[in-house]
Amino acid sequence: VLPGKATLVEVGPRDGLQNETGLIASADKIELINALARAGLTRIEAGAFVNPKWVPQMADSEAVLAGIERRAGVSYSALTPNLKGFERALAAKADEVAIFAAASEAFSQKNLNCSIDKSLARFAEVTQAAAQAKIPVRGYISCVLGCPYSGAVDPALCVDIAEALFDMGCFEVSLGDTIGVGTAASTQALLTPMLQKFNPKQLAVHMHDTYGQALANVYQSLQMGISVIDASVAGLGGCPYAKGASGNLATEDVLYLLNGLGIEHGIDLNQVVVAGDVMCRKLGIANHSRVAQALLSQ
Ligand code: HMG
Ligand code: MG
Repeated sequence: VLPGKATLVEVGPRDGLQNETGLIASADKIELINALARAGLTRIEAGAFVNPKWVPQMADSEAVLAGIERRAGVSYSALTPNLKGFERALAAKADEVAIFAAASEAFSQKNLNCSIDKSLARFAEVTQAAAQAKIPVRGYISCVLGCPYSGAVDPALCVDIAEALFDMGCFEVSLGDTIGVGTAASTQALLTPMLQKFNPKQLAVHMHDTYGQALANVYQSLQMGISVIDASVAGLGGCPYAKGASGNLATEDVLYLLNGLGIEHGIDLNQVVVAGDVMCRKLGIANHSRVAQALLSQ
């Protein structure tokens, strides 16, 4: 059964921009975030408090969080890989933080420079500090439908990691197809055991579109009762530690799907199209949203 209402988590300002090589001005990131909030997005991932040597594009996350207009009802979140990242996020007044584990030892090493177990121990420090500060923590699991280094991933491992993330206090776990290799069938094979253990309201899906399957995977997820969807305006993005991973599923394309299904979301598609197009022009890159391409050429 399809949900009547869906929530989009806009990850463009973080996942979308983190991989861009030319440094983007903080003011441009701020303008993008403000435009997305005005368009009706209520959950926006605004930055990452990671090691700036690892991801230089996110080094200005303090400045970005300090510069945005804080709209009522909008949660501005940031990635925090460890306690140091959490302290930076707290000082920058992030409303929510996200920790990110991987369902692959090889990817965990490349992305976090440590094993899965070690990363979970670091994340437990973050969730403890966050509980004290009353900051909600989202958990991510990367590589749920495949790893760029080690190939196939067992859904049972994803379930175990999700359980660890919930046990340490995450309010939600987002399942990331980091390299966009999943299909509707592998999405179903992952969600079936997930939903035997967890409430669909606690789960989100985070699809990358490398093989053009992201929207199909989201539709599969909606049919299984998932109603929180991560997406990136204009399909911006890629992961610096996943070679060949193309952008996230475009926010505009998800909105068009939801509109067609009559699923409520509260977001103005046209305003998102404009926000994405302004950013693409500034970056000098093509707009990867098919819906934006279609609407802009009318
Ligand atoms: P490390 O080098 O092992 O860290 O990196 P360390 O603890 O050994 O510290 C080394 C240096 O980094 C020290 O500085 C620390 O202070 C500093 P030094 O003494 O050399 O001057 N440091 C920090 N500085 C600022 N903020 C921090 C921080 N932590 C340490 N938070 C670490 C370990 C986890 C920090 C590193 O691997 C890292 O930053 N990784 C993040 C990589 C990343 O951002 N990847 C992209 C996001 S994940 C993603 O895109 C997937 C997702 O979208 C879902 C999906 O698609 O599947 C979420
Ligand atoms: Mg991602």
